[in-house]
Amino acid sequence: MFTRRVAVVGTGYVGLTTGACLASLGHQVVCADIDTAKVERLRRGVVDIVEPGLSDLVTEQVSAGRLSFVVGATAGVSEAFPGSSGSGDLDAEIVFLCLPTPMGVGGVADLRAVEAVVEETRELLAAGTVVVNKSTVPVGTAGRTAELLDRADVAVVSNPEFLREGSAVHDFLNPDRIVVGCDTAEAAERVAALYARLGAPTVLTDAASAELMKYAANCFLAMKLSYVNAMAELCERVGADIGDVTEGIGYDRRIGQAFLSPGPGWGGSCLPKDTHALLQVADAADFEFRLLRATIDTNTRQRQRIVDKVRHAVTGRRTGSLTRVRLGLLGLTFKAGTDDLRDSPALAIAALLRQAGADLVGYDPALVAEPGNPDRPLVDEVEGVPLVNDPTEAAQGAEALVVLTEWPVFRTLDWVAMAGAMKQPIVVDTRNLLDPATLRRAGLTGYGLGRREA
Ligand code: UDX
Repeated sequence: MFTRRVAVVGTGYVGLTTGACLASLGHQVVCADIDTAKVERLRRGVVDIVEPGLSDLVTEQVSAGRLSFVVGATAGVSEAFPGSSGSGDLDAEIVFLCLPTPMGVGGVADLRAVEAVVEETRELLAAGTVVVNKSTVPVGTAGRTAELLDRADVAVVSNPEFLREGSAVHDFLNPDRIVVGCDTAEAAERVAALYARLGAPTVLTDAASAELMKYAANCFLAMKLSYVNAMAELCERVGADIGDVTEGIGYDRRIGQAFLSPGPGWGGSCLPKDTHALLQVADAADFEFRLLRATIDTNTRQRQRIVDKVRHAVTGRRTGSLTRVRLGLLGLTFKAGTDDLRDSPALAIAALLRQAGADLVGYDPALVAEPGNPDRPLVDEVEGVPLVNDPTEAAQGAEALVVLTEWPVFRTLDWVAMAGAMKQPIVVDTRNLLDPATLRRAGLTGYGLGRREA
């Protein structure tokens, strides 16, 4: 079997998924992280992030001897490879950088983590190594990384990931496409060969196009969602139903059914960051990207629109007061299937509701304590929203429940009991998740987005 020695620097959800999945494809992988405690936990098979299948895959690949973990970005990496020179040279043939690139000042991607690792590794890389950037970085970063490395014998490749949180392992092993960008064809082919067993269409291109492709994909998805959220609002005004409209347009293969659910706005660790970063790229290139700006503005406005909807549902008036109105929030993560709260629209909406004077209490299935599990302690508040361990506690005395994350378990809650605990039987369902008939039977008035009954 074709096997490569691969190092992955950074064990976040992208790095850990990449490491475990490459190991499952038969490669010899070592993952490095500067967080000693995290490395210790990973060695014990404890995966901190909620990602279906990842924990099992890590345990399986560690037992198979194909995956190991070391502290640090560099020296430890060579230790993990048998037969390494021991001189401190990095023995991996291919080094993946899977580092955080958070939104810095003015929306510009903050590349300090990437730069620090490049600085630290430049002397240690063996001749012929390929450095692969998987993080989402501004166009031109591969070139800049090559300059920083200043090593003619080391190629820098851009190989963006398209993993969704909550299905990262599945997405890695069943990719729609593999994108590899490099100005040296030989290095690009070596990286593409790592994925050969997946049989996915592979786009070999230059580094700048690969870097731009990641933004182009995520910004297109954000645009699609802003369009759907705007369309849901229009549906309410003209008495149409967004579910029927999106089903109808989704059958058009040029549009597709995916990514057409209206919601409280898009969030998470990628879409908000990448839309702002691409605007910066456009600004720097002196290009007025109006469509992208409108995509972001529509999303910001969506949060206020949800607050207005709650206000109207609870008080019966567009200008009614939410002061001291108790609201139960169902779901705080940015989407279902993850415990990630980064740039969660639920939290942004919670902040606006608090500003409007509401008393909030939240419940999220990913944030409840697991008795006896020290790795899942009780989270008692998130950004000022007190949390409860049970959805009926969130309903207790509430004047409305607001569904903010599309956790499937919310569909099958005991809605009669929920209604019985509430002060006012109102549910604002920002994900159009719940069955309106079930709510009606429980004596609740439901308000969705762009639905006929809204
Ligand atoms: C995204 C991209 O999908 C992925 O390819 C990239 O690698 C990283 O960014 P992720 O951030 O995990 O993945 O979330 P995603 O599933 O794309 O959802 C993004 C946001 O859009 C979430 O807030 C989600 O709730 C929202 N969303 C998604 C909707 O509101 N409606 C939909 O139909 C789909």
